[in-house]
Amino acid sequence: MTMPVADYDKPRALLDQLFQTACPKRVVLLSGGDGVGKTMLLSLCQSRAAGFATTVAIELRNNCVGASEILYRIGSTIGWNLLPRFARRVAMMDGAPNVRINRNWLIGMNNRINVVLSAETRTERDQRLVALTDDLFADLARCDGLFLLLFDMFEQAPSEVRDWLSGPFLARAISGKAEHIRVAIAGRDVPTPENIEWGACSMLHVLEGVREPDPWLSVIDALGYKVPSFASDQPRGFVEGICWRTRGNPYLMMQTIREFPRRDAPA
Ligand SMILES: Nc1ncnc2c1ncn2[C@@H]1O[C@H](COP(=O)(O)OP(=O)(O)OP(=O)(O)O)[C@@H](O)[C@H]1O
Ligand SMILES: [Mg+2]
Repeated sequence: MTMPVADYDKPRALLDQLFQTACPKRVVLLSGGDGVGKTMLLSLCQSRAAGFATTVAIELRNNCVGASEILYRIGSTIGWNLLPRFARRVAMMDGAPNVRINRNWLIGMNNRINVVLSAETRTERDQRLVALTDDLFADLARCDGLFLLLFDMFEQAPSEVRDWLSGPFLARAISGKAEHIRVAIAGRDVPTPENIEWGACSMLHVLEGVREPDPWLSVIDALGYKVPSFASDQPRGFVEGICWRTRGNPYLMMQTIREFPRRDAPA
């Protein structure tokens, strides 16, 4: 069963436009506090993309997803054979510019990216990362089909990753040549759209919960619940009170709704 969603028409429309051929806002940024629906919206977007766009969804949880992991996940989903410039750059940085890039060599790609990005100084790491990012998106620009890159929990990414995603990564992802690349980033905070390189191609939406009772009444109904019997003569007012108490926070609303009686339960 698809979970019913209370309202959120606007952020859903923003994510939906990522699937249009002509898409002026190719970067969607969703920010908001705990339990406000960021992951749910990205999941909806991911389901919508199934069979329609090549999707890479990455949770930047607990400070433990580095740039090399992100590059590896993108490359292995898309297929290294479609990323020849990227692979050649890794070989060069790895000190093997003339190596034959075949299946066996590519099997060790995760490790190779890790090694080339573990340079000692941050400046060198950043320079390497920028060069790899250039090649990744240059390769992707030559591929067919839509590519959807979804990042969740941006606030939990290490600072190097946050800087890279907010800077060189997004700048190249939306460069003119790669119109079929679409990105959504969600988090308690997200890259700031006041960026001169990619800001104009982005839309930020701040999620604030759903304070109106009517969308929740529809959710209650769709899930097969009803308001408790003492409130059955004024269900709207009762749900309005809960919205007021929770400030429409979806996590808290859903927790409360799941304690309601089932509609088919005896009165
Ligand atoms: N508009 C909505 N309608 C119905 N349910 C919703 C809505 N938004 C979120 N939910 C539900 O609320 C719960 C919390 O949502 P979700 O996990 O997406 O929040 P989050 O913003 O990712 O939270 P966190 O910051 O903790 O990661 C989930 O069970 C989700 O399905
Ligand atoms: Mg979440």
